[in-house]
Amino acid sequence: MKLSDLKIIELPKFLDERGNLSVIEENKNIPFKIERVYWIYDVPGGDKRGGHAYRNNEEFIVALSGAFDIILDDGNGKKRFQLNRSYYGLYVPNGLWREMDNFSTNSLAVVLSSTKYNEDDYIRNYDEFVNLNKNR
Ligand code: TYD
Repeated sequence: MKLSDLKIIELPKFLDERGNLSVIEENKNIPFKIERVYWIYDVPGGDKRGGHAYRNNEEFIVALSGAFDIILDDGNGKKRFQLNRSYYGLYVPNGLWREMDNFSTNSLAVVLSSTKYNEDDYIRNYDEFVNLNKNR
């Protein structure tokens, strides 16, 4: 999937005086089966997360609360996305370098993943990532 095809996805939202509700169903709002869920919170101002790519794992990231940016990089160019609504999400296919920054105070990122945690699936060295992409 090309970087230019990726965009913020607006999830279904049910607006209600009692409070709003949004929903994600696997293979419907996101193109994979969910194997794992993790979340990122209490990020100190100015800090970054990510800084890696996955060989196989695909993700869907939602800013359940607050806002932050996701920067995706295919080795040739970068694209920055801001998640700042509880009903916005970003699909991150495998094979892209990803960073997250600009976390607002008390922001909460939930990440749905297509595979179980496997350190061998990570590419944590940017030069290695660029070289792998060149040879593809
Ligand atoms: P990492 O994926 O590097 O975090 P980020 O991409 O947000 O910067 O993971 C940070 C640490 O957490 C690392 O030591 C591995 C551990 N971890 C797990 O044990 N299981 C998981 O599912 C995840 C995502 C991380």
